[in-house]
Amino acid sequence: MERDDERAPVAAIERVAVVGAGTMGWQIAALVAGSGRRVSLFDALPGAAARAVTRMRTELPPVIAGGAFPPGQVDADALVARVALPDTLAAAVGDADLVIEAVREEIATKRAVFADLSRLAPGAMLATNSSSLPSSVVADVVDAPGRLLNLHFFSPVWERPMLEVMGCGATRPEVLSAGVAFGRSLGLVTATVRGESKGFIINRIWRAVKRESLRVVDEGHADPEDVDRLWMNFFGTASGPFGIMDMVGLDVVADIEASYIAVATDPADRESPTLRRMVEAGRLGEKSGDGFYHHPDPAYREPEFRRGKSRPE
Ligand SMILES: NC(=O)c1ccc[n+]([C@@H]2O[C@H](COP(=O)([O-])OP(=O)(O)OC[C@H]3O[C@@H](n4cnc5c(N)ncnc54)[C@H](O)[C@@H]3O)[C@@H](O)[C@H]2O)c1
Repeated sequence: MERDDERAPVAAIERVAVVGAGTMGWQIAALVAGSGRRVSLFDALPGAAARAVTRMRTELPPVIAGGAFPPGQVDADALVARVALPDTLAAAVGDADLVIEAVREEIATKRAVFADLSRLAPGAMLATNSSSLPSSVVADVVDAPGRLLNLHFFSPVWERPMLEVMGCGATRPEVLSAGVAFGRSLGLVTATVRGESKGFIINRIWRAVKRESLRVVDEGHADPEDVDRLWMNFFGTASGPFGIMDMVGLDVVADIEASYIAVATDPADRESPTLRRMVEAGRLGEKSGDGFYHHPDPAYREPEFRRGKSRPE
């Protein structure tokens, strides 16, 4: 049942709370503080929010100096001074206009967080930064799902200054518009996803690329190096699908593949034996030193690779 605040005007987004201070949370909090807003950062793990602030102090100055910080040339000390680290979730979100959830990618955890947010942040816009879950999966635990949406940021945000905005099916149009305006105010290229799309826009397209790249190799038509070499020439990029999969981590790629395969209607959309063998062998890409390439100096980064004269791997 709709509450009165379903019809209330959307407040200007001045105070923002970020819940979860891991890989994404600290970057999102930095963007928000960089845009001049006050931000409260909360993490259930003691010390995690303080570590996030340490990362802001050490990692932001070169990004800002290099001109890559999406909000622009801001003073890093002043930015950090706008970040508060309350001890409790209630204190962090109580007066927020917008809460951005960035906790681990697990439905039960997200549902518990959104049930708390529904109670503790009355009237605030509630967003999830999930990379695969539509916000509709938490809509039933939020009192007024008209205020719920996906705000999907990318990492590292300074290299991928983009935001995808998607509703939960019941999101009020003015909440979606406010999400778009917010993304633009952070200096991000902001796109609205119409309706509901698993993988939003880019992750969904990237998934199709991964699936077909793996399939071409699984079927024995090409080896990973030739797929990447052709891709790099065709699209003029510095890496190809297999090089990028190595960067992401092949265990993570396998988990993401599984989440798409679980809902696939095409029987040909099934687990890649190549990927499975590599994960089983502990060849996880950059993080393990070995994957489709040897790291930290993979062959595709050599100037000659693109022209088909790679050194033997
Ligand atoms: N890492 C990426 O490249 C990336 C990109 C886009 C979106 N995402 C999404 O962002 C979200 C966070 O990912 P991440 O990579 O930052 O994860 P992470 O593991 O680095 O950080 C998650 C943080 O959440 C905290 N946490 C867990 N449960 C909590 C709770 N109940 N309350 C408060 N804090 C809690 C953890 O202590 C941890 O610090 C996920 O939904 C993920 O899918 C990640």
